[in-house]
Amino acid sequence: MVTCATCGHDNPADASFCNACGSALTALSEREERKIVSVLFADLVGFTSRSENLDPEDVRALLTPYWEHLRNELERYGGTVEKFIGDAVMALFGAPIAHEDDPERAVRAALAIRDWVRMSGEDLQVRIAVNTGEVLVLLGARPAQGEGMAAGDVVNTASRLQSAAPVNGVIVGEATFHATRETIDYRAAEPVLAKGKTKPLPVWEALGARSRATVETPSAAPLVGRTQELDLLVGALERTRSEAKPQLVTIVGVPGIGKSRLVTELFAAADIQPEWITWRRGRSLPYGEGVSFWALGEIAKAETGVLESDSTPDAEAKLAASLERLLEDEAERTWLSDHLRPLLGLAGVAPRAQDQSEKFSAWRRFLEAIALLRPTVLVFEDMHWADDDLVDFVDELADWLVDVPLLVVCTTRPELLERRPGWGGGKPNALTVSLGPLSDAETARVVAATLDQAPLSAELHEALLERAAGNPLYAEQYARAIAEGSGGLNDLPDTVHGLIAARLDLLPAAEKSLLQDAAVLGRTFWPEAIAAIAEDDIGAIEVLLRALGRKEFVRRDRRSSVAGETEYAFAHALVRDVAYQQIPRVLRAEKHVRAAAWIEALSPDRAGDRADLLAHHYRAAIDLRAAAGLDTADLVERARAACFEAGTRAASLNANKSAVRHYTAALDLMDLLPPDSGDRQEVLLAREEAAAGVLASGDTARDRDPGG
Ligand SMILES: Nc1ncnc2c1ncn2[C@@H]1O[C@H](COP(=O)(O)OP(=O)(O)OP(=O)(O)O)[C@@H](O)[C@H]1O
Ligand SMILES: [Mg+2]
Repeated sequence: MVTCATCGHDNPADASFCNACGSALTALSEREERKIVSVLFADLVGFTSRSENLDPEDVRALLTPYWEHLRNELERYGGTVEKFIGDAVMALFGAPIAHEDDPERAVRAALAIRDWVRMSGEDLQVRIAVNTGEVLVLLGARPAQGEGMAAGDVVNTASRLQSAAPVNGVIVGEATFHATRETIDYRAAEPVLAKGKTKPLPVWEALGARSRATVETPSAAPLVGRTQELDLLVGALERTRSEAKPQLVTIVGVPGIGKSRLVTELFAAADIQPEWITWRRGRSLPYGEGVSFWALGEIAKAETGVLESDSTPDAEAKLAASLERLLEDEAERTWLSDHLRPLLGLAGVAPRAQDQSEKFSAWRRFLEAIALLRPTVLVFEDMHWADDDLVDFVDELADWLVDVPLLVVCTTRPELLERRPGWGGGKPNALTVSLGPLSDAETARVVAATLDQAPLSAELHEALLERAAGNPLYAEQYARAIAEGSGGLNDLPDTVHGLIAARLDLLPAAEKSLLQDAAVLGRTFWPEAIAAIAEDDIGAIEVLLRALGRKEFVRRDRRSSVAGETEYAFAHALVRDVAYQQIPRVLRAEKHVRAAAWIEALSPDRAGDRADLLAHHYRAAIDLRAAAGLDTADLVERARAACFEAGTRAASLNANKSAVRHYTAALDLMDLLPPDSGDRQEVLLAREEAAAGVLASGDTARDRDPGG
């Protein structure tokens, strides 16, 4: 029998399509994933009337160039065109691959399309809507072949919103608005009454995108901790200056841990004597294609003063003036100018400028000349996004140059070291600063500074610290969500979700699916158990785990709660949560059953809390299957036995509250069983005894539930 992962219907084993909903069945369960995506609908208004009297072939000839343009625009921002329907196009941002800023990309693409239509001068109009939410994504779908990729209410709603959008306007739904309001200007619009919705939907009209420079305002919260790391950086800067020697410092850490912030702090420290230091900063962008050496381009633009908006003659004049400041030799200036032009976006490149090694030496000469004028700090931000050529260039920079006061600071996520294990390694003039999590006390200070209001209840505060796990960005985002009353601790802020989902999507498929299996086991897990869930070979699993360890997704724990098993843990509970949410419900239930089977096969003395774990997995599987309308009969008796055993164990440890909870669960499950199965009386008695224990002790401190 094959269970359809879309609707849960059971089909004959040889079926290729679901008999109930028609979805494709082949190996699909592994290829589906729940994702948060932003859906964009755009409808060109006016074609329908124009095409009324035209031959179908002429209609297509008329439309094709427009579709091509729309597709290019959408793809440029990282979207995937799902389909063209008549005059409308639907695109997804966040599927198949998520980016950390998908809602923003979708709205920027929408605005670009709107502006293009407004400028086109033709008799064209457009209405666009963007909506964000959870969908089920078919990862192997081929949209070009007309296969739908995403299904979910958010898609239908986006299409409804689109028809309510003003002519040549962009409207967005609530989740999109919340995720983008710091980077996009909005005005509130009339709520939309949509078919099939009980309440009108709040919407906003997007007016324009803010430029990146204005978006990056430094955080108001004072720096917490990181004194040692900052001292290292300041020390490196001092040495570069006093010894006139180039150095490479790499700041490594997971997203949001505070790499960019540390650079800002170094800048503030150096800024005390600004006239002594030249400071140039360039970022690598996540957009990838067509922007090689982008970061270096930013640095060159800053040095020469060339702006995006400059006309070609202005830019050329600025380049010439800048080189005159830096170099005396005219031939050298011409040579440099040839090689710098492409970085500044100026056309007319001499043929020899195509040669990589010559290009590199010209750029090095340029940077050297800057540093010879004054001690210089070059910051390359987000090197994990840099193209390979830029990585080569920066890696060698500090090696090639001698006797110049140049400090090269790179910030990067751990992926770069995975790609380039030898990065900076073994060089006398290279230093790597790894940023780990903040302590709880430090995180608490970040929270307090962000909240700017009466302190949270002790319980909420503790829960928040646990979720943030020392990541200042997560701490800020959660605190902000709570302060705005826009979410509890169980709602992952969309920004945080996006960041984590994007990191997961960058992983090779095998590593990502391992994390999903591990997520079923919980915050901690064991390679053997994963092998059982994934039905894979343990050796392969261990290789993957080591790779995931290097990327700081998981870490090995020294002690294990299962005898004889190495234990691993998610480095961050939120990564576990997002990975878990991605698994379609029906598949999730199956994985819980396999996890339970693995635990059942362990001998009882190997895991103390075996019954708790079993009860947890069986109950999760039952809930998930029930939610999908599937049969749970084969699991109920096993779940009941596990709950009863867990209750007995808790009672024997005097954890009476937990015992009561487990016994109650066992009784609830017995309601689902035939009346004559099992001794109800026995469970009732045991529960009464435990309840009496709770009253008698009045002491709840010991009563921690071992099962979580
Ligand atoms: N030590 C700290 N004290 C107070 N706030 C901090 C600290 N470190 C980071 N923050 C704040 O946390 C947020 C995230 O930090 P930052 O942008 O530096 O992360 P990042 O490591 O550069 O992430 P990414 O990899 O996404 O670029 C910022 O708002 C920053 O001001
Ligand atoms: Mg950063």
